[in-house]
Amino acid sequence: MARNTAQWLKRPNLPSTHYVDPIIYSSEEIFEEEKEKIFRKVWHLACHESELPNPGDFRTYRHPGGTPLVIVRGQDGKVRSFYNICPHRGNVIVYEPSGNAKNLTCIFHQWAFNGYGECVDIPRGKEGYQDRLCKEDVALKEVRTEVGFGGFVWVNLDDHCEPLAQYIGHALDFMLPELESEPLEIMWYYQATLHTNYKLIHDTNSEFYHDYLHFYNRVTGMLDPNSGYFQRKYTAFPNGHASVGSQKCNYAAYKGTVRRSALGWPHLEPGGWKLVDLFPAITFNLRTSVLRIDSYIPLAPNKVILEFRTLGLKSDTPEIRRQREKDAITIWGPWGRNLHEDLLASSGQGMAMAKGSQAMYVLQAREEDNTIHDEIGMRHFLAEWSRRMGRSASNPMLKTEAAARAVA
Ligand SMILES: [Fe+2]
Repeated sequence: MARNTAQWLKRPNLPSTHYVDPIIYSSEEIFEEEKEKIFRKVWHLACHESELPNPGDFRTYRHPGGTPLVIVRGQDGKVRSFYNICPHRGNVIVYEPSGNAKNLTCIFHQWAFNGYGECVDIPRGKEGYQDRLCKEDVALKEVRTEVGFGGFVWVNLDDHCEPLAQYIGHALDFMLPELESEPLEIMWYYQATLHTNYKLIHDTNSEFYHDYLHFYNRVTGMLDPNSGYFQRKYTAFPNGHASVGSQKCNYAAYKGTVRRSALGWPHLEPGGWKLVDLFPAITFNLRTSVLRIDSYIPLAPNKVILEFRTLGLKSDTPEIRRQREKDAITIWGPWGRNLHEDLLASSGQGMAMAKGSQAMYVLQAREEDNTIHDEIGMRHFLAEWSRRMGRSASNPMLKTEAAARAVA
């Protein structure tokens, strides 16, 4: 029998860690608090060093904490990040996504800054400011920046944050041989903007029960008794990170499109697949011959930019690179059979759980010894979210010290 309203609104008879109040996906108050307590405190993956190969190269980044950044390779070869905010009148200094320039010059009044963040020109400075203000007073604000874990550029708005290696801990260990054996190079950068909550996208990368959504994943993994699919185990790491054990995909079982090549990846077993989710919005996804990196930029409770990067090896010949691109497109491209299915499901969640909808508690309650259809990946993420927010995901508006302690 279908439920009436009272039954629909009733809390599930499950541990409070095993269900979620959907208000965490739509509340403005919670979103603003996430910016303060999470996004401005953690390390974010801004780009890959191969996007800035030469001195003077720059790349803009819309930081999830709400601060526009520009990342620059200085004349000394070092990568630095700055607020992309002109100290004069608060205009964005760099509008282009990327480029190369000797100096970064604001279009508004032509104030110019070099790759060290120093102001190098104020037009008619002396005439206007006399000795009351000089170039040294108006340098850019530098942001903590590190390059690592496969040559990615990471940024953190918190001047006093822990080092990147400490934040990641051992979460990427089981992918490190593949990430660091030789230099990587970006193949494609692309974006999607979805009307959904960023946590729901990360959830989809953190649970594989949804392989019922993907015919491709079912035939190349779930339905192949030799793939090791059901033996894959989640490993939870501190700070909300998690990895999913490796699996061997049987791509030949998929008849619907061009098969993936035999091209592999150094240190990865043939047909192998490894995946690591980093809190709060990054996924490293290495599938056989291509590394895909997801990083999300939430703009509002129900709006998020998804950044995707696919990477190959810097040493690739043009022929090998074309093959990697073909492999990537068979599954993750516009006519592929995986990524946009995920986006469809996450968008549907955004619609059904939008503010004012009557969505009630959703479940994260599967327990299967931490294997692939267990929902521990999502629970582990929300445990970290609760720790940082001082709110329980199943009773988030009860924001008391006791609630904060209970979820700590
Ligand atoms: Fe998926």
